[in-house]
Amino acid sequence: MGPIGIFDSGYGGLTVFREIARTLPQYDYIYLGDNARVPYGTRSFETVYQYTKECTEELFRLGCRLVILACNTASAKALRTIQQIDLPQYSELRKVLGVIRPTTERIGDFTQSKAVGILATAGTVHSNSYVIECQKFFPDIRVYQQACPMWVPLVENNELNNPGARYFVQKSIDALLQQNPAIDLFVLACTHYPLLQDTIRDLAPPAINILTQGELVAESLKDYLVRHPEVEPLCSKNGTQQFYSTETPDNFNSKAALFFGKPVHAEQLPLPFCAISPDH
Ligand code: DGL
Repeated sequence: MGPIGIFDSGYGGLTVFREIARTLPQYDYIYLGDNARVPYGTRSFETVYQYTKECTEELFRLGCRLVILACNTASAKALRTIQQIDLPQYSELRKVLGVIRPTTERIGDFTQSKAVGILATAGTVHSNSYVIECQKFFPDIRVYQQACPMWVPLVENNELNNPGARYFVQKSIDALLQQNPAIDLFVLACTHYPLLQDTIRDLAPPAINILTQGELVAESLKDYLVRHPEVEPLCSKNGTQQFYSTETPDNFNSKAALFFGKPVHAEQLPLPFCAISPDH
C-alpha cells in the first residue's frame, strides 16, 4: 500500500489535486512538482517523456502504486509510452493515469453547438491528443485548438487580471473563435489556466461555457477506484498530504498556496533523482 502520487511540471497540478483531495479525502497523497524544469509545454516529445518518466519513477520510489499525471502536456506526450512500454516492466502492479481522457469523455455534456475550443500549451495542441480522444467518444463534435504560450508565464508570475494579462487572454480567445464562431465551449486544457478563469470569463462571449478539469478528474478517479478492485486496496487511507518540488521549498510554498487554495509546506527532491529502479 502507498499514497496516490499526483504529478505536474510545476504548480498547475495543484488545481487538480485540490479537487481530488476534496472528493477523496480519505486517501494519502504525495504531490510532486517538477518546478526546476518547468515549463514542459514548449518542450519536445522526448524531453517531456524523459522528465515525466523520471518523476513517475520517483513517486514509485516514494511508495506510490498509482500516479495521476495532473498535467495535460505530460498526459499528451508521455502517458501512452509510460503505460504501454514502462509499466509492464515492473514486477509489481503500478498504474499511471492522465487528465485528457477524463475530460474528453465528458465534453459532450457541455456543448450544444458541437463545436468545442481547446485552450492549451503548444505541446498539448501539437500532440493532437484532444482531437484524437474526443473523436473516440463524440465523433460528431468538431474540436478546434488554440495554443496560448503566454498564459503559463502569466499565471506563474501571478499576473492574472491586469491590462497585460487581459491583452494576451483576449488575443488567444479571438484566435480560437476565428476558427469557428459557433464554438460554445472552452476547455481549459492546461492545469495552470483555472487561475485565469475569471479573466477568461470576463473576456469571452457570455454564451460560452468554460470547463475546468479538476472536478472531472476527481470524479473519474473516484469511479476508477470503484471499477478497479485490484488497484484500490493498494492506496493507503490515512488522509495525509505531502508536497515535494524539484525546486527549493521557499520558492514553491509561496506560489503553491495560490493554486491549492491553502498553505502548502513542501520539501525539495533535488535533481537528478537516483537511478535505482523502484522495484529494488
Ligand atoms: N500545467 C501544464 C499542463 O497542464 C503546463 C505547464 C507547463 O508548460 O509546464 O499542460
